[in-house]
Amino acid sequence: MIITNYMHKEFFIHINIVPAVYLSAIIICIIGNYPWGFLNLLKWVQKMSTLKNKVAVVTGAARGIGASIAKHFAAEGAKVVVNYASSKEAADRVVKEITGNGGTAIAVQADVSKEEDVKRLFEETKKAFGWLDILVNNAVFQQYLPIEQATTAAFHQHFDVNVLGPVLTIQAALKLFSDKGGSVINISSGASKMPMAGVSLYSATKAALDAITISLSKELGARNIRVNSILPGATETEGASSAGVTTGSEAEKMFVAHTPLGRRGQPEDIAKAAVFLASDDAAWITGENISVSGGMYGF
Ligand SMILES: NC(=O)c1ccc[n+]([C@@H]2O[C@H](COP(=O)([O-])OP(=O)(O)OC[C@H]3O[C@@H](n4cnc5c(N)ncnc54)[C@H](OP(=O)(O)O)[C@@H]3O)[C@@H](O)[C@H]2O)c1
Repeated sequence: MIITNYMHKEFFIHINIVPAVYLSAIIICIIGNYPWGFLNLLKWVQKMSTLKNKVAVVTGAARGIGASIAKHFAAEGAKVVVNYASSKEAADRVVKEITGNGGTAIAVQADVSKEEDVKRLFEETKKAFGWLDILVNNAVFQQYLPIEQATTAAFHQHFDVNVLGPVLTIQAALKLFSDKGGSVINISSGASKMPMAGVSLYSATKAALDAITISLSKELGARNIRVNSILPGATETEGASSAGVTTGSEAEKMFVAHTPLGRRGQPEDIAKAAVFLASDDAAWITGENISVSGGMYGF
């Protein structure tokens, strides 16, 4: 009897529902006049949903890794606040590219090392989108400085932007995360674990950021706020070029020689990892310092 009922159920499913689904698909494909149109549409809808309805702030997002993270977040359905310090035109270009592709973004100027600016950044975020789900601390100050040249001013410049900045933004973000929680992604560096000569201040700020990441994951876990850091390897950006790591340079050759995957990273290599950490797919990942570096090892 049970078997008969089950068979009846199967019969109805196959006679009524399955043909209806196939028929709809065929009609849509015919209307679209493109055999793969329906499949592509399905894939697109699925892809768009990874960060759908989420609101993100990305600091230092006018160029380089930050800009790529902002664009990838928007392509996955997030509404993005593109923060910049001085590069207004570049930030506007990022916003224009996002909105031109059907996404949502605004540009907000703020120096992350200044409390008043950070306050305004998050007020603008609240005004535009109402709440926050994702914070990416990407903004950076970096100088090649042998220890004799590491002045008190240089010390404070590094620590103000790279450590105080994330502390201030995280404090402000906590007020905007909803009861559902949030995701904080700190963009650290391979330099935190493999410091090179001449960048002691920069490396120290990134080691501090990794420690803050682990500590806050424990402090904020009960509120379902996940805190992770990404440690990029050598990545092609304007910042890297200004630091002398240009295409074909000796510095690039040295980095590539220490990278098992045999190339420098592109900003999108880092952005894709950030999308994953920001998404619900990473719902049980917190307190991690994750290298995204082509396997780069010490010097
Ligand atoms: N590229 C690499 O090889 C590499 C390797 C390891 C780690 N990383 C990390 O990845 C992140 C991005 O690096 P990147 O190479 O893309 O950097 P980048 O090209 O130098 O861009 C850095 C951005 O930070 C912004 N910024 C600087 N000070 C700021 C402040 N006080 N407030 C707000 N924004 C500020 C700048 O904004 P404005 O232009 O508006 O002034 C700039 O757009 C950094 O955290 C870096 O440490 C990079």
